[in-house]
Amino acid sequence: MQQVRAVIARSKGAPVEIATINVPDPGPGEAVVKVLTCGVCHTDLHYREGGINDDFPFLLGHEASGIVESVGPDVTDVAPGDFVILNWRAVCGECRACKRGDLHYCFATHNAKQRMTLADGPDAGTELSPALGIGAFAEKTLVAAGQCTKVDPAARPAAVGLLGCGVMAGIGAAINTGQVTRGRSIAVIGCGGVGVAAIAGAALAGASPIIAVDIDAKKLEKARAMGATHTVDSSAVDPVEEIKRICAGTYAGAEGADVVVEAVGRPETWKQAFYARDLAGTVVLVGVPTPDMVVPDIPLIDVFGRGGALKSSWYGDCLPSRDFPMLVDLYQQGRLDLDAFVTEEIGIGDIEAAFERMHHGDVLRSVVVL
Ligand code: APR
Ligand code: ZN
Ligand code: ZN
Repeated sequence: MQQVRAVIARSKGAPVEIATINVPDPGPGEAVVKVLTCGVCHTDLHYREGGINDDFPFLLGHEASGIVESVGPDVTDVAPGDFVILNWRAVCGECRACKRGDLHYCFATHNAKQRMTLADGPDAGTELSPALGIGAFAEKTLVAAGQCTKVDPAARPAAVGLLGCGVMAGIGAAINTGQVTRGRSIAVIGCGGVGVAAIAGAALAGASPIIAVDIDAKKLEKARAMGATHTVDSSAVDPVEEIKRICAGTYAGAEGADVVVEAVGRPETWKQAFYARDLAGTVVLVGVPTPDMVVPDIPLIDVFGRGGALKSSWYGDCLPSRDFPMLVDLYQQGRLDLDAFVTEEIGIGDIEAAFERMHHGDVLRSVVVL
């Protein structure tokens, strides 16, 4: 067991604080990772606000890179010294999804069995709930060994660590869930970190046109830099009509985009996605709605008559062992600009300020460097 500094959310709505935590030595199937970087994701804020569950105190942070420090007795896939990206989809290999070959739907993903605990104060010994089973706003964290995905150690940690959550969710929404390919059209509604990543993924796959939609002009500029061929300011024009117009012009007779990715997480933008796709097209919902939101009022005959697929994408339907090393290699080759997602590098004490900046629209990702 060792003690390290970490960022915890102690109770609902309270600002995060730095605390000393106990990290157990790794048991069977576990690894202790020295964290190098960890991105600040909306989900961390949702945990802090009690929007995920009530299992306070939380150990926040889940979008991380690090170096494996030690592993449990039976661990063979990773070893001390390995450079890894942490994932929250350590597939079990045993559940019905894994057995039928749908590993990205694994229903029993692995996390560390032992718990990290608070080290000091009146509640010393209290077990922590690590965000998404990771908890990486910490100098070191305990995870399941399968949550460590080895990648090229020459890559910049702050950039590739973002594949651990938001950037992978976006890229995967386009290429895994939407299955967009060379010459297929795509529109992405919402160009924050996730939406811009979907655009980067679509560009990698050779999609055309790639239409970025947002209500914020600054976000549209970023989207264009990441590969969008067209931009639509939906605060000024009807995005459905505009997407249809662009697709009709570049793609004879098309009545919308082949794939529309919704990366906001709201009923009204999902409805736009529904109507902005071509007949037999695919809608991909990667934005995360809140529990009070309901499916928008759409005549069932439109669902039937337009055909195609209405999908959701959790974590970009990724398989970390397949997708992380591949995307890191593309980054290293200069074909995927992960640096563009790192708006700022911050310290472990700056997380509240980073939450605040999330609302202002000029940050794709703040990355904590430990
Ligand atoms: N139409 C178009 N774009 C919108 C709209 C709207 N009505 N409302 C908001 N947006 C844009 C914002 O301007 C912003 O650029 O959506 C983007 C959301 O980006 P971020 O807040 O940076 O969020 P991001 O990290 O990209 O995540 C998007 O995916 O993982 C989930 O919880 C996350 O639901 C969130 C979504
Ligand atoms: Zn499984
Ligand atoms: Zn996340």
